[in-house]
This record gives sequence, C-alpha cells and structure tokens, in this order.
Amino acid sequence: MRLNQPLAFLFLSIPHLCRGFPSYQSLAGLSERDQDAAMEKLSGKAVYPPSPPGPIVFNGTKLVHDEDHPWKPLRKGDIRGPCPGLNTLASHGYLPRDGVATPAQIITAVQEGFNMVHGAAVTATYAALLVDGNLLTNLLSIGGKTKRTGPDPPAPAIVGGLNTHDVFEGDASMTRADAFFGDIPSFNQTLFDQLVEFSNRYGDGYYNLTVAAEYRYHLIQQSIATNPNFSFVSPRYFTAYGESAFTLNLFVDGRDNTTVLGGRRLDMDTALSFFRDSRFPPDFHRASRPTGTDGVREIMAAYPFKPGRNLDGKINNYIEDPTSPSDFGGCGLYENLVEKVVALYPNPKGVLRRNLIINLRFFYGVFASRCEEALPYGKL
Ligand code: HEM
Ligand SMILES: *[C@@H]1O[C@H](CO)[C@@H](O)[C@H](O)[C@H]1NC(C)=O
Ligand SMILES: *[C@@H]1O[C@H](CO)[C@@H](O)[C@H](O)[C@H]1NC(C)=O
Ligand SMILES: *[C@@H]1O[C@H](CO)[C@@H](O)[C@H](O)[C@H]1NC(C)=O
Ligand SMILES: *[C@@H]1O[C@H](CO)[C@@H](O)[C@H](O)[C@H]1NC(C)=O
Ligand SMILES: *[C@@H]1O[C@H](CO)[C@@H](O)[C@H](O)[C@H]1NC(C)=O
Repeated sequence: MRLNQPLAFLFLSIPHLCRGFPSYQSLAGLSERDQDAAMEKLSGKAVYPPSPPGPIVFNGTKLVHDEDHPWKPLRKGDIRGPCPGLNTLASHGYLPRDGVATPAQIITAVQEGFNMVHGAAVTATYAALLVDGNLLTNLLSIGGKTKRTGPDPPAPAIVGGLNTHDVFEGDASMTRADAFFGDIPSFNQTLFDQLVEFSNRYGDGYYNLTVAAEYRYHLIQQSIATNPNFSFVSPRYFTAYGESAFTLNLFVDGRDNTTVLGGRRLDMDTALSFFRDSRFPPDFHRASRPTGTDGVREIMAAYPFKPGRNLDGKINNYIEDPTSPSDFGGCGLYENLVEKVVALYPNPKGVLRRNLIINLRFFYGVFASRCEEALPYGKL
C-alpha cells in the first residue's frame, strides 16, 4: 500500500504519536481533568520505570565519531532542542534520531558519547524527565516542537520536552536567545558571534576558563539590560554555570590531556560544529575520564552573583531572590526541584503518582549521601 504524503508523514515520522496525545508529551501543569484524560489515552503505554544504568566500565577516551555513529541530517519530524550535547548524540545515533528517548537511553548516551560523569548524567536526566517528560510512558523529548500542522488529529504546537521555558530551559544561554525574544531552541548566530568575540578578547581565539567566566558574566548582564522578563533562579542559576563548564570539559577532544585549570581550551570550529550543527568533528574522541562541571566554582568565583530576576517587567531592575538556592554543594537544588515538581503535579493519582515517587527517588541519587529525602507523595 502506498500512503499519501501527509499520512505517511504522520505514521512514519512521529512514531510516538498516540491518538492526538504524543506519548512523549508532558502532563506537567495540566488541569486535573486533562491529566485524567491523558492518563486514559496513554493507559496502554504506561510503564514501570526501570532503574538507571550504572557508570560505564571502560571510562577512558576513545573514538566516538566512529563508523557505527555517522552524523545524519534531520528527517522530517526529528526533534532537536536547546542542548547541543543531546542534539549531537541524537544526530549520531547514540540517542534515537527522532529526539525522543528514555532516561536510560540518555544516561547511557551521555556517558558513552561524551564521558559525562555518572552523577551529573543521572541528576540532569531525572530533573529533566520530572519537569519536561512524560512520566507514564517514561519518554522525554530533547526539544518539543512538532513540525506538524493541521487539525487532524489535533495537537498543540508545543508538546513539552526540553524546550519548555522556565523549568529546566532558561535565560542567558550561550547560543540560544532568551524565551522573551522568541525562538528558544534555535542556534543564534548573533550570540555565537559574541562567544567568538570573547574568545578572541580573553583566550587568543579559544574558549578557556577565563573566557567561560567573562562570557557567563556578560550574558547575565546582557539579559538584565535587554530582557524585561529575565529570570535567573534555581535550577537555571545552576545549569547556566554548569553548561559554561560542560563546554570546556566535554567538547574538547579527549586526546588533549590538559585540565580546565591547566589551560584547556576549545577552538571555535569545534564549538560551531556542536552548537550549530549537532555534529562531532571528524575523528572526535570523548573526554579522557568521566567529567562534567569541573571549573564551575572558578567560573562563579570570578564574578560572584546571586539568583534573582528583573522585577515588574522592567529591564535593569534585577532584584536578588533569597528564596532561590545558590550553593552548588548544598541541598537547595534538590529541594527546590522537588518543589517545582509538586507545583506541576499537585495531586497525582494512580500510575502517575507511583511513577513520580519512583523517579523522584532516582533523582535523589547523588544527594542521598548529604540531604534528607523529600517525600511529597509518600512512599510506595
Ligand atoms: C544528561 C542529560 C542532559 C540534559 C537533560 C540536558 C539538558 C539541557 C537543557 C534543557 C539545556 C538548555 C538550557 C538553557 O540554555 O536554557 C542544555 C544546555 C546545554 N547543554 Fe545539556 N543536557 C544534558 C547533557 C549534556 C551534555 C552531555 C553536554 C555536553 C556534552 C551538554 C551541554 C550543554 C551545553 C553546552 C548547553 C548550553 C547551550 C547554550 O547555552 O547555548 N548537555 N542542556
Ligand atoms: C574509571 O574506571 C577506573 C577503573 O575501573 C575506576 O577505578 C575509576 O573509579 C573510574 N572513574 C570514575 C570517575 O568513575
Ligand atoms: C539572537 O539573540 C540576540 C541577542 O539576544 C537577539 O537580539 C536576537 O533577537 C536573536 N535572534 C533571533 C533570530 O532569535
Ligand atoms: C516570563 O517570566 C515568567 C516567570 O519567570 C515565565 O513563567 C514566563 O514563561 C516568561 N515569559 C517569557 C515570554 O519569557
Ligand atoms: C586563557 O587564555 C588566555 C590567552 O591565552 C590566557 O591569558 C589565560 O591565562 C587563559 N586562561 C586559563 C585559565 O588558562
Ligand atoms: C599529556 O600528554 C603528553 C604527551 O602524551 C605528555 O608529555 C604529558 O606529560 C601529559 N600531561 C599530563 C598532565 O598528563
């Protein structure tokens, strides 16, 4: 049978679509009625969340741009988003190329493809799943826009995923404009040009720890001065600094054995390849040991800055928010994210409640040794 174009597109390129409610669409923040309706629609697809995979066994450098993982251009319907790391993994097949993945697939891919350290992989993945993913089907979209239009079946243009503003995704990104200006997930050449300019000015043409600190501070000041809706509180406060460090730790070829404090630097061709093209440079080797946010304290210490926001929709009106945590080693990030989850799911029932409890426990992982567990929905 030969399907006509639009139909083939619906059935073949959006495999997770389920009777008008894509099975990766988040239920976060839906009214109780809509949550119930979604649960009914997806009832046949609900899963019991499996435990996250452990650390990888061989954790040294290796060729990751190999024959089994060629870069491929996007097909119609493939989803990409604001994270150059996950975009690259999807475009090389370490993640499903359609951009929809389970937590286990994400944790495996970031470790295998970039040597991201296990704790950071688990924490980022479950934080994202809890606020942006579908907790019934255990699927997370690394972007969120469906390219599909038209009334049948009806679907909103935005279906959650990592593009969702103000829960995980946030302002003052290195290469993506603030949501206030429109198109969050897209690479923004104007911002990349600024990154190049800062790398020229402070790093002899390379992004290094000095550039990371200067550019991070610049981005914050720029958002204060231009975005009346600028918000810079947990978790965005932490992820903004963290991502400035990821860029140095994970995008530099692992055969380079320098450390961030020992002069490690990223050339701009490689940066462009990841940020714009979601593509490993030829012959790319992952980091030589598990890593993530090394150097983040130095980046923060260069320009100490507290969480806050521009109040009353006014530019240059940044007021600190003492209720937002700001200590990287504390429990604030954990407790604050749990509060955000409760705000999105005030009264979950059935399988949704069960899966929230299970995934909150997985998210608690790296905090377990130092923080008290929050149990907003009780125990199983
Ligand atoms: C472990 C799972 C991961 C999740 C859930 C995740 C999620 C995200 C999200 C939601 C953003 C957007 C934040 C924003 O700018 O508003 C982001 C940005 C970013 N991510 Fe990831 N990420 C993950 C892993 C990685 C990895 C492995 C790398 C590097 C290899 C990476 C590098 C970055 C960078 C550099 C940015 C900043 C982009 C920019 O500011 O323009 N991430 N990530
Ligand atoms: C990397 O693997 C080695 C050898 O198995 C192990 O001793 C080390 O703890 C691992 N490093 C990390 C950060 O997991
Ligand atoms: C790119 O970012 C700049 C600086 O934030 C912003 O002024 C501009 O509108 C953005 N361009 C697009 C196409 O989003
Ligand atoms: C404005 O800020 C609020 C609160 O941080 C946020 O919920 C909303 O999505 C923002 N809107 C835009 C367009 O950035
Ligand atoms: C970054 O590069 C600049 C220019 O080469 C250099 O002066 C600076 O010390 C470097 N920063 C670090 C942390 O190595
Ligand atoms: C890095 O590798 C070079 C060449 O293989 C070696 O000479 C140097 O001692 C290494 N440096 C570190 C810090 O391991």
